[in-house]
Amino acid sequence: PMRRLTVPAIAARKGGEPIVMLTAYTARMAQLLDPHCDMLLVGDSLGQVIYGLPSTLSVTLDMMCAHGAAVVRGSYHAVVAIDMPFGSYEASPEQAFASASRVMAETGAAAVKLEGGAAMAPTVAFLGQRGIPVIGHVGLTPQAVNALGGYGARGHSEAEQAKIGDDAQAIADAGAFALVVEGVIEPLAADITRRVACPVIGIGASAQCDGQVLVIDDMLGMFERTPRFVKRYDDIAGRISAAVETYAGEVRARSFPGEDQLYRPKS
Ligand code: KIV
Ligand code: NA
Repeated sequence: PMRRLTVPAIAARKGGEPIVMLTAYTARMAQLLDPHCDMLLVGDSLGQVIYGLPSTLSVTLDMMCAHGAAVVRGSYHAVVAIDMPFGSYEASPEQAFASASRVMAETGAAAVKLEGGAAMAPTVAFLGQRGIPVIGHVGLTPQAVNALGGYGARGHSEAEQAKIGDDAQAIADAGAFALVVEGVIEPLAADITRRVACPVIGIGASAQCDGQVLVIDDMLGMFERTPRFVKRYDDIAGRISAAVETYAGEVRARSFPGEDQLYRPKS
């Protein structure tokens, strides 16, 4: 099998071959995505996607460790990165190191991702200097939904553009090996991509970014409603409904199980 990609190999992709990234939360999905992806992100979006929570705010370190370990077990090639959940890293660099080192030790992942701009730069540097590669995340940062007032795109005002640009620069300068830019107007994402030294991975951002990421359930069409930036590559929800409808009909008609699914006595 292919040797697993490394964090330096991802960092070296700045301005080169685009980085292919998707979220994964389970071992089997990781197995399916791994041959096609450079990075797998165990996103705290698992709060909504897996657990039916209303936001990412109540996702726990225990959840991230359990799903992170499953994704590492299911993958061989991609760099696995794990989201730091809300409340596990913001208080201090020391708190972030305690949480991130636990995530690394319990999952075997190679990197963590955390949300925030200039205020988080010292934390990104602290972790990086202690052997924990960090991906930044700026723009629409879902853990800040209450402060932002919703999930709408960012960067419509010049003041917001300047703030997000400064945040991106601060996180990149602090040593993040990659930066997720989410939900910002296209020219801002393209400008950040040109300005910062590390690869920029876009989601609702720009085709000029150094890579793209989507939530796997969104791109497979598991949900009724998804943001504008999600392209649906399948209608898995529709296909599941159709399969289960067929199964239910066959059970009610006693046409399942059929001859092929039954054990007959050996004669
Ligand atoms: O939690 C998540 O899935 C993410 C990506 C969408 C970037 O942070
Ligand atoms: Na996230």
